[in-house]
Amino acid sequence: MSEKAQIILDGKTYEFPVYEGSEGEKAIDISKLRDQSGYVTLDFGYKNTGATTSAITFLDGEQGILHYRGYPIEQLAEKASFLEVSYLLLYGELPKAKELNDFENQIRYHSLVHEDMKHFFEFFPSNAHPMGILSAMVNSLSTFYPKSQDPHRSANDRMRTAVRLIAKFPTLAAISYKNGLGHPYMYPDNKLGYVENFLYMMYGLPTEPYKVDPVVADALNKLLILHADHEQNCSASTVRMVGSSQANLYSAVSAGIAALWGPLHGGANQEVIEMLETIRNDGGDIQKWVNKAKDKEDPFRLFGFGHRVYKNFDPRARIIKKSCDDVLKKMGVNDPVLDIAKQLEEIALKDDYFIERKLYPNVDFYSGIIYRAIGIPTRMFTVMFALGRLPGWIAQWKEMVENKEPIGRPRQIYTGATKRDYVALKDRG
Ligand code: CMC
Repeated sequence: MSEKAQIILDGKTYEFPVYEGSEGEKAIDISKLRDQSGYVTLDFGYKNTGATTSAITFLDGEQGILHYRGYPIEQLAEKASFLEVSYLLLYGELPKAKELNDFENQIRYHSLVHEDMKHFFEFFPSNAHPMGILSAMVNSLSTFYPKSQDPHRSANDRMRTAVRLIAKFPTLAAISYKNGLGHPYMYPDNKLGYVENFLYMMYGLPTEPYKVDPVVADALNKLLILHADHEQNCSASTVRMVGSSQANLYSAVSAGIAALWGPLHGGANQEVIEMLETIRNDGGDIQKWVNKAKDKEDPFRLFGFGHRVYKNFDPRARIIKKSCDDVLKKMGVNDPVLDIAKQLEEIALKDDYFIERKLYPNVDFYSGIIYRAIGIPTRMFTVMFALGRLPGWIAQWKEMVENKEPIGRPRQIYTGATKRDYVALKDRG
């Protein structure tokens, strides 16, 4: 772009290039600002900072638009399979039939985890949160595949690591659940599809046959697609940041899982259901809880409301709300918590506090109700989010490595004590 941005500091004018993305988003490239003027920019929480350029996901928060590689999320959620979307995120194009078949076969081939890993699980407390287990287990995969430790070895090595991770992740996630129950772990059944295999490893038992319900598998496939990427969110930025030091993919994703676990990010889906249950057990006075969320003295927030980038609606939440009704109907489930969720949404959306701050239900508001209906325990909700987000994390990491991006290392403005001399212990009073 020929346009330039001018910044005037101490009476001097500095000019910076303006950058425009393929969907018309504009940015000022201030990477030379400090060299030229001595100033840095300050932006807590990176609310207005573009950390990278990316060709994976486009998101327009004002208009509620979300595209993966140009394809609208509504079309992908309706028509695609999760592995097809994973391929799209990783390779940039939808696979042809043979490409998808090969990709699925590679994932099947790598679905087992090393037998020695089973011993790790034995030492977690029975009430360990599955996200803690998953993060540790994904990191430990790097010790079984030492070649993965050099992300620049070759493009083929990177893809092999990516495929291994996508293949083993459901196996590890299911074991982290079985571990808490004290049930025997189920080996993957490679005759099944990716989603069906995960359900089989979660709910199957060696003592009785388990048949996957297609309604459940369809719902889960859709949920995973809706979570598959979301550009530079907290966990994806974490994966890119950790990967930028040239740490291996397993370790970068393990850090991403830790970032996702927090209640302001992916951990919100567990919090939403717990909040709805609390409201119900408290007598169902929804206005009382809305008032608490508005009270600045009260730490309570309405989980599942608000988003850093969506200021109109979250397109994922719209799709989930509809499929929530469909799934409950098809499965004949009547969940009173859904009524509370609907009333809460109605009251909050009419409230000036939420209107002024543009706070709308986000992806996590209704997803927990579907997870519950299809039998996923509450503590596994964020694991489900992680399973969905995995191809996005990998695509973000791969893009960062292939673009040879520099190590992530922000600046700061120091506000601590100015220089002072060391005082010997005996003289400190
Ligand atoms: N309940 C009550 N007030 C809220 C909420 C909420 N859920 N969310 C934001 N606010 C208020 C906030 O107190 C602030 O008010 P004021 O301007 O008077 O200080 C204003 O709205 C702006 O909020 P913010 O915290 O500055 O916005 P943010 O962009 O830093 O945070 C958020 C975004 C998602 C962390 C936040 O909205 C939140 O905590 N929501 C609840 C947790 C949640 O549902 N997270 C899942 C997000 S979707 C999944 C994902 O992609 O991670």
